[in-house]
Amino acid sequence: MGFPQGRLLLLPLLLLTGIQTGTSLEPINYTPAITREPLEGSITSSTFTLDQPNDQFNGSGISDLDDIWLVVAFSNASQSFEPPQSAQDIPYAATFLDKKYYLTIRASRDLYSSKRGSQGISVLRVGNETNCTRSDCNKPLPGPGPYRVKFLVMNTNGPVAGTNWSEDITLRKPVEFSESRPPSKSAGTIVIIAILSILLSLLFLALVALLVYTW
Ligand SMILES: *[C@@H]1O[C@H](CO)[C@@H](O)[C@H](O)[C@H]1NC(C)=O
Ligand SMILES: *[C@@H]1O[C@H](CO)[C@@H](O)[C@H](O)[C@H]1NC(C)=O
Ligand SMILES: *[C@@H]1O[C@H](CO)[C@@H](O)[C@H](O)[C@H]1NC(C)=O
Ligand SMILES: *[C@@H]1O[C@H](CO)[C@@H](O)[C@H](O)[C@H]1NC(C)=O
Ligand SMILES: *[C@@H]1O[C@H](CO)[C@@H](O)[C@H](O)[C@H]1NC(C)=O
Repeated sequence: MGFPQGRLLLLPLLLLTGIQTGTSLEPINYTPAITREPLEGSITSSTFTLDQPNDQFNGSGISDLDDIWLVVAFSNASQSFEPPQSAQDIPYAATFLDKKYYLTIRASRDLYSSKRGSQGISVLRVGNETNCTRSDCNKPLPGPGPYRVKFLVMNTNGPVAGTNWSEDITLRKPVEFSESRPPSKSAGTIVIIAILSILLSLLFLALVALLVYTW
């Protein structure tokens, strides 16, 4: 009986790929950054807009079929980020508050190419999918952060390459109408108050005149 030959041949192969995925990622010398395009609202209370990482994924280990994810992390958790070893392990936005990081905006390197010109997207708005129902949603961010982001390349065997982490990104505080702004009187209210007080003083004068007259 013994081992089927196929499995014997497979064993060293599995060991080899196991060792490969265990080693560190191929570094990509690129740091994601908030876009310098003159955009309205490049940072809001629940979104921020990055430059698209065009032409950065030409490393030898990266293929056209690989997924390029954006990793979003709370700044203080970025150092403890462990790249997911398989697609099943990918943390999504739904578990962000537990895991402290998630993957979103799946793309491939032909999308991140300057050759696409105006057809390709040139900025990425993180947090812009308010109504999304997919698991890998780009959901609105839950608070001011600060956050850090990096791009992570994954193939079917696991993570392949990654960029540097961005600088800290802090969102705007949401505008609160109830707080710190006393309700200001509108122009209409002021006019009505003025007219009423004039009428009241006229009435008062009339009363005084009547009083003097009857005296
Ligand atoms: C990425 O990080 C490495 C190591 O910290 C650094 O040497 C390199 O300058 C960084 N690249 C960019 C584009 O900032
Ligand atoms: C990848 O693209 C960058 C930016 O265009 C370039 O500087 C680098 O030499 C390229 N690397 C390879 C291996 O082609
Ligand atoms: C969110 O941004 C991405 C990339 O910029 C874009 O493709 C997508 O259409 C946007 N979605 C919404 C709902 O605006
Ligand atoms: C989100 O869903 C609501 C109700 O289903 C719809 O009215 C709204 O237009 C949607 N917004 C976007 C950005 O798709
Ligand atoms: C990390 O940062 C988040 C958001 O700013 C904060 O809620 C959390 O308490 C911080 N955790 C630690 C361990 O400092």
